[in-house]
Amino acid sequence: MRIGGKPYRTIWVGDDGWTAVVIDQTRLPFEFTLRELRTLEQAAEAITTMVVRGAPLIGVTAAYGVALAMHADSSDAALLQAVETLGRTRPTAVNLHWALARMKSVLAAVPAAERVACACQEAQLIADEDVECCAAIGRHGLAILRGIADQRDGEPLRVLTHCNAGWLATVDWGTALAPVYAAHEAGIPLHVYVDETRPRNQGASLTAFELGAHGVPHTVIVDNAGGHLMQHGLVDLCIVGSDRTTARGDVANKIGTYLKALAARDNGIPFYVALPFSTIDWSLTDGVAGIPIEERSQREVTHLTGRAADGTLTEVQVTAPGSPAANPAFDVTPARLVTGLITERGVAPASTAGLAALYPERSRSP
Ligand code: MRU
Repeated sequence: MRIGGKPYRTIWVGDDGWTAVVIDQTRLPFEFTLRELRTLEQAAEAITTMVVRGAPLIGVTAAYGVALAMHADSSDAALLQAVETLGRTRPTAVNLHWALARMKSVLAAVPAAERVACACQEAQLIADEDVECCAAIGRHGLAILRGIADQRDGEPLRVLTHCNAGWLATVDWGTALAPVYAAHEAGIPLHVYVDETRPRNQGASLTAFELGAHGVPHTVIVDNAGGHLMQHGLVDLCIVGSDRTTARGDVANKIGTYLKALAARDNGIPFYVALPFSTIDWSLTDGVAGIPIEERSQREVTHLTGRAADGTLTEVQVTAPGSPAANPAFDVTPARLVTGLITERGVAPASTAGLAALYPERSRSP
């Protein structure tokens, strides 16, 4: 995607041929700052502190993290330690474990002397595949958006999204926003309602930033406004991303997604989830019981970061001093509330049969 007219991915290899360069998402939307990751520890820290975030990008960064580790030490022990260290960074997005398992299996099969080159190559391949997947999700999602837009008599299609599942959450294009960008480029008039997405405000800061940079009309709303807008006929469809989708189509995504799905169901509004294959956890069926939900720091709830009048980034407290806070970062939307899963292979019902039809090679027999 373009920032100031210049095309960017969210992660790339620097001029030295091995450093990973990322956009520091903790500084957006007010500062566009690049960070160089030169060590395994820096890659792990970038994921933990959410310099990079979003399920697909977490996976790709972990892959580059393994490559950085191999650059320092390409022994078997270093490979295992890299996979273990990166695997502990964030628990919910299964793309992390998918990418690490792939790196481990590819690298374990080659001699230590070949691992640096091989790791760089594989990380690059994972990044490129993510871009292809997201572009395909955009094409499949476009057909859905076009179908609903056709019923709007030329009035803008009104899409509600939660969190950031745009190009910043992936390597390029995004998952939930890929169809939005495709529709925008196809000339379909649309307007995106962006949930602010407390506590970290990925909607207000990241989704609004990238939609604005791309010229897509949008309005930021507080998280609790979605149900009201839906009741008043102001939302035509919801699209969100996913951090882990089970074999039967239960979907973990940013906290608050489940409530939007309930409101959408109550109001007869289609609720789509867009995800690449690397987000599917074939080992799980019941998402509520099985998907690990990250519990993050209380401080993300008790404090907010924003730009002060003098332009500096400032943190302020918003809760009563001493009040404890809880911060579950994700929730699970059961498959029965999901209208369809938009993947790189096409759109499927959120069900065991639906996913099995799209991925016959991966699905388990019932
Ligand atoms: O905590 P985050 O910012 O990593 O959470 C991101 C989300 O929940 C996204 O919606 C999800 O990763 C889908 S991304 C394409």
